[in-house]
Amino acid sequence: MAFAARWTFVALFLANALTKVFAADTFDATYGSSPAPFKINVHPSFIDETILKVSHTRYTKDVDEPVFASGPPRHNVTTVRDYWVNHYDWFDVQDRLNARYKQFTTSVLTGSRSNFTDPVPLHFVHHRSNRSDAIPLLFIHGWPGSFREVNEILDGLINPPNASSPAFHVVAPSIPGFGFSPAPLKSGWGARETGYAFHALMQQLNYTKYVIQGGDLGAFVLQFMAADNPDAVVSVLSNFWIIQSNATDLQRYSANLTTADENAYITFLNLFKTQLAGYLYIQDTKPLQLAIGMTDSPVGFAMWIYNLMAGIVDHYEWTPERIITWSMMYYIQGPYGGMRFYKEVRREVRQYS
Ligand SMILES: *[C@@H]1O[C@H](CO)[C@@H](O)[C@H](O)[C@H]1NC(C)=O
Ligand SMILES: *[C@@H]1O[C@H](CO)[C@@H](O)[C@H](O)[C@H]1NC(C)=O
Ligand SMILES: *[C@@H]1O[C@H](CO)[C@@H](O)[C@H](O)[C@H]1NC(C)=O
Ligand SMILES: *[C@@H]1O[C@H](CO)[C@@H](O)[C@H](O)[C@H]1NC(C)=O
Ligand SMILES: *[C@@H]1O[C@H](CO)[C@@H](O)[C@H](O)[C@H]1NC(C)=O
Ligand SMILES: *[C@@H]1O[C@H](CO)[C@@H](O)[C@H](O)[C@H]1NC(C)=O
Ligand SMILES: *[C@@H]1O[C@H](CO)[C@@H](O)[C@H](O)[C@H]1NC(C)=O
Repeated sequence: MAFAARWTFVALFLANALTKVFAADTFDATYGSSPAPFKINVHPSFIDETILKVSHTRYTKDVDEPVFASGPPRHNVTTVRDYWVNHYDWFDVQDRLNARYKQFTTSVLTGSRSNFTDPVPLHFVHHRSNRSDAIPLLFIHGWPGSFREVNEILDGLINPPNASSPAFHVVAPSIPGFGFSPAPLKSGWGARETGYAFHALMQQLNYTKYVIQGGDLGAFVLQFMAADNPDAVVSVLSNFWIIQSNATDLQRYSANLTTADENAYITFLNLFKTQLAGYLYIQDTKPLQLAIGMTDSPVGFAMWIYNLMAGIVDHYEWTPERIITWSMMYYIQGPYGGMRFYKEVRREVRQYS
């Protein structure tokens, strides 16, 4: 099934450049040369097609093992499939997202340091504080999240409870390949290139100096940005700084000499490596192989990210509604770009370490 591309462009040269190197064709978007208000508007024909695929989900059979030992159990799959077909209303979700966030699109030039010379189309949330001393803050999401990771802290950042708490102008972009920033069609787009683009975005918004918060994949972008733009990036807060246990730590661990905090940390790292990290190695090596099936199976993709979310997120109830909306932030443009970003970032980790 072919979906008509409904992009409009300020200039033909831009249209040619953006369609050649970046692509998304299931939602309406214009990426001009300066920020313009954006509302999510997914093509109804794509939603119809998605529901049809969801309704035709074919089920696996459970093996007698603990739940999540090999992936989400079949009853999770039927629950999400049934909710998606019978209750989930994308257009209601879309209205709520559009009411909640001040969203924009633009395109930026990544500059002479970059291997990408074409304009880079970006989607971002931008909420300005009305406090005159507010600090520009770039908020960078990770996997399997999206710009919506900023949701619960957004209001407190722009409008803190009193004058002694700092206030922020918050910019929360979608990494290309996620949300509504189209994925690059040229290899080599990693965390460093994303950092060039996000720095250009902050400059375009006239935030010459700014601070950054980043988690998960966003923390890799953050590290490059701090190193590449020392005059502009005033401060960074990474919520993803993985310290590996060394030989001494592990010796102390086997001798039961580690503290309760160290034990909890080492146990979690072991759980991650032995039970949860499989997704990472596949996305690092053959993201396309995986994306072929995932692009065609909305429930398969929702379960792919749910397995990880259920394993690593505390104090959050993963209702079918939330699982579906989180997965739609990838599924709408197609999940390959987001999956592939792992391959590019892990190449950079090897290249630069
Ligand atoms: C998935 O199954 C687990 C274990 O039975 C359950 O705790 C969880 O709520 C289920 N999640 C969904 C979305 O159905
Ligand atoms: C640009 O490409 C070169 C050659 O492949 C590579 O060494 C370099 O790391 C790339 N730059 C970025 C920012 O990824
Ligand atoms: C600042 O904006 C908040 C809403 O975000 C509003 O409640 C508050 O009254 C505003 N303060 C001033 C001084 O305008
Ligand atoms: C201001 O708000 C912060 C955050 O809620 C709180 O920790 C702090 O005590 C408050 N300060 C004053 C002076 O009220
Ligand atoms: C940034 O500043 C320039 C020059 O003053 C202005 O033309 C432009 O509109 C500003 N951009 C934004 C997003 O405010
Ligand atoms: C492991 O890390 C600890 C804490 O930083 C340090 O004291 C110890 O020397 C390290 N051991 C090795 C083998 O590097
Ligand atoms: C390890 O040490 C804790 C106290 O630090 C103790 O409660 C526990 O029984 C010890 N476990 C083993 C296997 O020695």
